[in-house]
Amino acid sequence: MVVRLREPTIPITEVEQSAFCQTDEELKSRTLLEEFEVGVRWQKLPTGYMRIEPEELGRRIQEARAALDRRLVILGHHYQRDEVIRFADFRGDSFKLSQFAARQEDAEYVIFCGVHFMAETASILGGPERRVILPNLMAGCSMADMAHADDVLDCWDDLTDALGEGAVTPITYMNSTADIKAMCGRNGGIVCTSSNASATYRWALDKGGKILFLPDQHLGRNTGLKMGIGLDEMIVWNPFKPMGGHTEEDLRRAKVILWQGHCSVHTRFTVAQIEEARRRYPDVHVVVHPECVMEVVREADSDGSTEFIKKSIEDAPAGTVWAVGTEISLVNRIAAENPDKTVFCLDSVVCPCATMYRIHPAYLLWVLDGLNEGVVVNEISVDPEIAGYARVALDRMLSVV
Ligand code: 13P
Ligand code: SF4
Repeated sequence: MVVRLREPTIPITEVEQSAFCQTDEELKSRTLLEEFEVGVRWQKLPTGYMRIEPEELGRRIQEARAALDRRLVILGHHYQRDEVIRFADFRGDSFKLSQFAARQEDAEYVIFCGVHFMAETASILGGPERRVILPNLMAGCSMADMAHADDVLDCWDDLTDALGEGAVTPITYMNSTADIKAMCGRNGGIVCTSSNASATYRWALDKGGKILFLPDQHLGRNTGLKMGIGLDEMIVWNPFKPMGGHTEEDLRRAKVILWQGHCSVHTRFTVAQIEEARRRYPDVHVVVHPECVMEVVREADSDGSTEFIKKSIEDAPAGTVWAVGTEISLVNRIAAENPDKTVFCLDSVVCPCATMYRIHPAYLLWVLDGLNEGVVVNEISVDPEIAGYARVALDRMLSVV
């Protein structure tokens, strides 16, 4: 038997995740030149864009966008900074944005203000006629980087050898590469987002057998618990150890095999922060994203996708108090849009998702200028065979919910 061992490597984006963290509340965009100083990797762009002040960028983006009219749709994830999201034609969580992407029939171009896996998904769902652009190619996702396609394929082979064909249904969270979505499509699996993870678990469990959940162990565990699966029936697959660190007997006993991945933004939230919020505001409602650790989700009053969090607060009566466990750009925006409620982030350190934050308005202007000059900058395209299988898993997701 060949024993494969890979040195543990920390994804660069994970190392850089705290680059923009700060203790004062100010998260206003500065020129790209000034923002370069935090030392994360940025995509190079023509130097003329680097010194443009944010107000000037806003004015020029508006003009460049207007010139493209209906040839273009801009999609924006809720974690985008204010200076970018205000130009989005549609805003949403990953699920809602993938539905928008699948429905775009008129627009020639989609600019995706979000991260790489989202643009890749939009490209797969939009089909070959839609040209999808990610303004900054360095906008990845540290969680998605924790599942390399080779490691996932090794894991799949090991599971198949140990348990037999058809014993396991793979479910991948949207936050994964097209290769991994394709692996799920090829092997009877499905994609999920934070808004439909339980429905996909039900779908997989109805087929009988076990689940391999990729790449976020926390969303996978929190969903398993909601479905009544015990902690003792869930094991974590460590890609750096042979057989994920397990024996065949462990695999046979498990109901759910969780990939060892996490989100470094959401794992910052703690039970102590929730206790502190409850001490300060006894009537506080604590709402968190299900990428948080199990103990935090258990202590919170509710949990759900970014769209769920936004809607829960919008629909709540005036005067209510909300402590939120998700990315700060969204929390600040919800607070500003709901002045009749008290809304604050559980974590007092202001820590945006460093990969979402890489979509600076200068990049948006650069790709818009390109389109107006007939040049498609930063197009995201997926190999047709991979796209075909990934689409199978995505279509299953869209039909399950
Ligand atoms: P949503 O699908 O809830 O928007 O989450 C996406 C994400 O990346 C959360 O970290
Ligand atoms: Fe990825 Fe976490 Fe950022 Fe979401 S918040 S895009 S999971 S790093």
